[in-house]
Amino acid sequence: MLHRPTVQGVAGATRPRRIVVLNPKGGSGKTTLATNIAAYLARIGGNPALIDYDPQGSAMHWLAVRPESAPLIHGVAAYQRRMNITRSFQLRVPPDCGYVVVDSPAGYDAAQLRELTRDADKVVMPVLPSRFDIHAASRAIADLLLVAKLDRTRGQLGVVANRTRRNTKVFDTLMRFLGSLDIPVVTILRDAQVYVRASEQGLGIYDLKPYEFATELPAWQSLTGFVTRGAGALDTSAGGDDARVRVNAFEYDR
Ligand SMILES: Nc1ncnc2c1ncn2[C@@H]1O[C@H](COP(=O)(O)OP(=O)(O)OP(=O)(O)O)[C@@H](O)[C@H]1O
Ligand SMILES: [Mg+2]
Repeated sequence: MLHRPTVQGVAGATRPRRIVVLNPKGGSGKTTLATNIAAYLARIGGNPALIDYDPQGSAMHWLAVRPESAPLIHGVAAYQRRMNITRSFQLRVPPDCGYVVVDSPAGYDAAQLRELTRDADKVVMPVLPSRFDIHAASRAIADLLLVAKLDRTRGQLGVVANRTRRNTKVFDTLMRFLGSLDIPVVTILRDAQVYVRASEQGLGIYDLKPYEFATELPAWQSLTGFVTRGAGALDTSAGGDDARVRVNAFEYDR
């Protein structure tokens, strides 16, 4: 079954739904989220393209080692600047793509931020529980609203708390910070070796056997719901140390 959520563009033309994973802080989990989202979309018949804007080329490397038996993901190395063809030709994706997933570099200027977020239907920002990452995230969110002119009322932006460990002070600090923002926290992902194991093989967790990622599945359902439909925000409004954070169908007990 094909899953094609194409978006009506100007002049009635349709285009794939564009999901941009972004955070200027290095190592926050952008490539992990982008590749896992692409792997999920490939598995549901969304025919995704993964566009890598990071000169490190990690997402393209992941695709290069992806087994042929895994559902197909198209790759576009946007970090390569090719002189002999136009930029838009270089960035084209197959016409039957339902989704475009963008993996971004760490660090970008205002012009790059605008290029990355142009036509974005969803922007996903992974944030790690560390003081430096929390500080950087608040600036990055301000840039998204002021420079990229993301409209927070349209529910485009979702934050993902990544590599969390329960019952740590810094996790509580992160959740308090996220709770203080008027930006939905889409989900909370654990620090888990399954992501590392999968990525080494060019796989996402959804490509593994169900029992191998069962623990991560509820958290991922919130994220996949957000990128495919727009639902799935956590309620962090309670804040504080004793808050329980609700994630749609399950509860992440702090
Ligand atoms: N939830 C997680 N649990 C365990 N390891 C994780 C998780 N998320 C990411 N990692 C690991 O953290 C490291 C950094 O993640 P990743 O490469 O996705 O970050 P990034 O934001 O793309 O980095 P860069 O800015 O360098 O592109 C990787 O080794 C990855 O496997
Ligand atoms: Mg990366």
